Amino acid sequence: PAGPATSTVRHFRRDDDLGPADQAAVLDLADAMKKDRFAQRPLDGPRTVALLFDKPSTRTRVSFAVGVADLGGMPMVIDAQTSQLGRGEPLEDTARVLERQVAAIVWRTFEQERLEAIAAVSGVPVVNALTDLFHPCQVLADLQTVREHKGRTAGRTLAYFGDGANNMAHSYLLGGATAGMHIRIAAPEDYRPDAQILADARAIAARTGGSAEVLTDPVEAARGADVLATDVWTSMGKEAEAAERDTPFRPYQVDDAKLAAADPHAIVLHCLPAHRGEEITASVIDGAHSVVWDQAENRRHAQKALLAFLLADGGQGEDDRR
Ligand code: CP
Ligand code: NVA
Repeated sequence: PAGPATSTVRHFRRDDDLGPADQAAVLDLADAMKKDRFAQRPLDGPRTVALLFDKPSTRTRVSFAVGVADLGGMPMVIDAQTSQLGRGEPLEDTARVLERQVAAIVWRTFEQERLEAIAAVSGVPVVNALTDLFHPCQVLADLQTVREHKGRTAGRTLAYFGDGANNMAHSYLLGGATAGMHIRIAAPEDYRPDAQILADARAIAARTGGSAEVLTDPVEAARGADVLATDVWTSMGKEAEAAERDTPFRPYQVDDAKLAAADPHAIVLHCLPAHRGEEITASVIDGAHSVVWDQAENRRHAQKALLAFLLADGGQGEDDRR
């Protein structure tokens, strides 16, 4: 049976697993890690971090692998399809095996429930490296990027264009509200955010001074915004819907017209991979307002800070826990 140890472990299942103070502490640490790559070595030993992927990845895989090594640890990248997870071994059994060997479990998968099931039994921190519902590590990096380029997050307006029901939209709502931002989701009527997540974001925003809005008019959403953000129209796992998404999403393309409506000093974010000519034009993503390469680099700094924070606060050590 799971021991009492599991109750005190900190996980990062969704953006609001970090409250405003914790999120700010992680972002401050991310800035410190960016200045001094080896500022903290909580994984010295080396201790191992399992990086499991049920879906493809370039940035997440590389930034976590390099980041874990920077922290003094050993990254173990596992393509879930080549593990027993891919053959249907129960999630909880996998968690119980891993928690006795590794310092943390980082997992990219489909349903949020799968991630929650592992977190429920794991005695080491579980980190969401993207699910169908959230991409919280990406939004931590995005918030670090906003702070770098706009000085602060509080009171800044971020307008997101495209699929309002995908992982990025949901994470901007929760993570952005936690950071005191005004989040505008511009999406076609049929692709609105999950109602409960929107309500959660509004409850957080009421405490932080932020706000969360859903609009169908993309130019209205862009008006005066400090940050324009977008993501692929067809997320991983939704490939069968690609053709039917093109027409409704076309007006939400981040193009020169949206940029012209935004604040003159607006920055442009895209979590990548990008499809030029679909969700964003080449002129915008390759233009002067784009900070997407800083954003991609910040994945490493933000995730290192997150791991250091979770390990200090809740991780109990894979070997000597019992
Ligand atoms: N942005 C992001 O998560 O990229 P990957 O899918 O390449 O990891
Ligand atoms: N919404 C995208 C993000 C990719 C990093 C997807 O889930 O495919």
